[in-house]
Order: sequence, then C-alpha cells, then structure tokens
Amino acid sequence: MLANRMSFRVVDYDELDADHGTQASCHEIMAYGSSGDDSRVRTMRLRATGVAPYYGMYAPDGQDVLGQVLVHRFNFVFPDGTSRPVSALAGITARPDRARRGVARGIIRAFLEREEDGIDHSLLWINRSWQAHDLYTSLGFRDMFSPPLAYRRVPQRRQVAGAVSFARCGMKDIRSIVKMHARTCEGRTGIVFLPPESWGHL
Ligand SMILES: CC(C)(COP(=O)(O)OP(=O)(O)OC[C@H]1O[C@@H](n2cnc3c(N)ncnc32)[C@H](O)[C@@H]1OP(=O)(O)O)[C@@H](O)C(=O)NCCC(=O)NCCS
Repeated sequence: MLANRMSFRVVDYDELDADHGTQASCHEIMAYGSSGDDSRVRTMRLRATGVAPYYGMYAPDGQDVLGQVLVHRFNFVFPDGTSRPVSALAGITARPDRARRGVARGIIRAFLEREEDGIDHSLLWINRSWQAHDLYTSLGFRDMFSPPLAYRRVPQRRQVAGAVSFARCGMKDIRSIVKMHARTCEGRTGIVFLPPESWGHL
C-alpha cells in the first residue's frame, strides 16, 4: 500500500488556480450534492461566520484537484463551561480514481499543521460504521459520543410481551421529550441543553 502513496502539495482556497474552480466544485458536489460559485464563498468569508478564514484545503495536481477538506469555525462549549473557537472538518473528499493513496490523510495533516493560534481542538462528524473511521483515529481524533441506543424496524410485526412500540409524538409528549433531551445532554462534551423556548424553528 505504501508504494502507492502520492506526493502532492496542499493549498488553501485562495491559492487554488482559477482553472481549478470546476474541479473544486465537483468535490463539493461529491460531499454535499451541490456547490456554489466563488461569489458564495466570498460572501460566507466576508460575513466571517461559520467558516475558517482560509475556507478549506485542497490538493491540486496538474489540471486535477485530488481532494479537499472544508473548514468550519465556531464556538464550542467545553465541559468547564468556557466557550472557545474550534475548527470542524467537513466535506472531506478524494478522487475515487486515486483512492487509498494518502490524499485525504495528506490534506488533513496539512490542515492540522496549519491550525492557528488559539484553536486547540478540531472536530468532525464521523461514525464507527463509516469506512474511513480509521483514517481519523490514526490522525489522533477520538470518538466523543455514541448514542446509547440504536433501533431497527422489525420486518414483520410480531406481538411480543413487553416489547417497545413506536408512535408519532405530539404536543402531549413535550414534557417527556424535554426530560429525555436534558438527560441525554448531561455530562457530554460540546452538547448543551437547548431550552424548549428556543425550539420554535423545529
Ligand atoms: C473517505 C475518503 C475521503 C478517503 O480518501 P483517500 O484519499 O482514499 O484516503 P487515504 O488514502 O488518505 O486513506 C487513509 C486511511 O483511511 C482509511 N480508508 C480510506 N478509505 C477506506 C475504505 N474505502 N475502506 C476502509 N478504510 C478506508 C484507511 O485506514 C486508509 O489507510 P490505509 O490506506 O493505509 O489502509 C474518500 O474515500 C472519499 O472521498 N469518500 C467519499 C466521501 C466520504 O465518505 N468522506 C468522508 C466523510 S467523513
């Protein structure tokens, strides 16, 4: 496997050549199913909310862009109650025709080296069942939270004594939902209780 490793440089959004724009968009489509143009990126960066000043890291190689990592930036509540900025990786993609040649690993390493003063944690959303989970643990990321429950629908309905059943919830269940939500948030790094008054958007 090591013999297949590629060498490439990693640059940020501003260092990409203009003619890499289409390929960078292809990576965004691969990650999110859609992509915006340069003016959307400019607007996001000007508003300075939610994205790192450099927006993302890319691996250009000739006419190609081998992969990307987009970098979000937001405040995160730590267990001691302090709120500090963290970076969050998103939209991690590598070209399928160069898979398993160290592209994603190289870009994330470059991101970790680049991280700025005052940003001492980075996050990403990953699940143990995802294929590339080992990539992140091998780079030092640690699982923070696994939901204590999982369910699957039983293909054929059977009557089992004492079995749990599912029903659509409504306003009558609000007290139980608030209690369950509060209990789930307790002692979990980065997860805060959202009071019901702010649930209007749900
Ligand atoms: C996941 C993805 C970014 C990996 O890119 P890549 O450049 O092929 O990854 P790397 O070559 O740097 O792989 C590094 C490690 O990740 C793990 N990994 C990557 N792809 C894997 C796969 N398909 N199955 C199992 N492990 C995998 C391995 O541990 C690998 O190390 P190894 O090759 O020494 O065994 C790429 O497959 C992709 O774009 N997938 C679609 C989008 C996606 O799932 N993004 C991740 C969202 S968090």
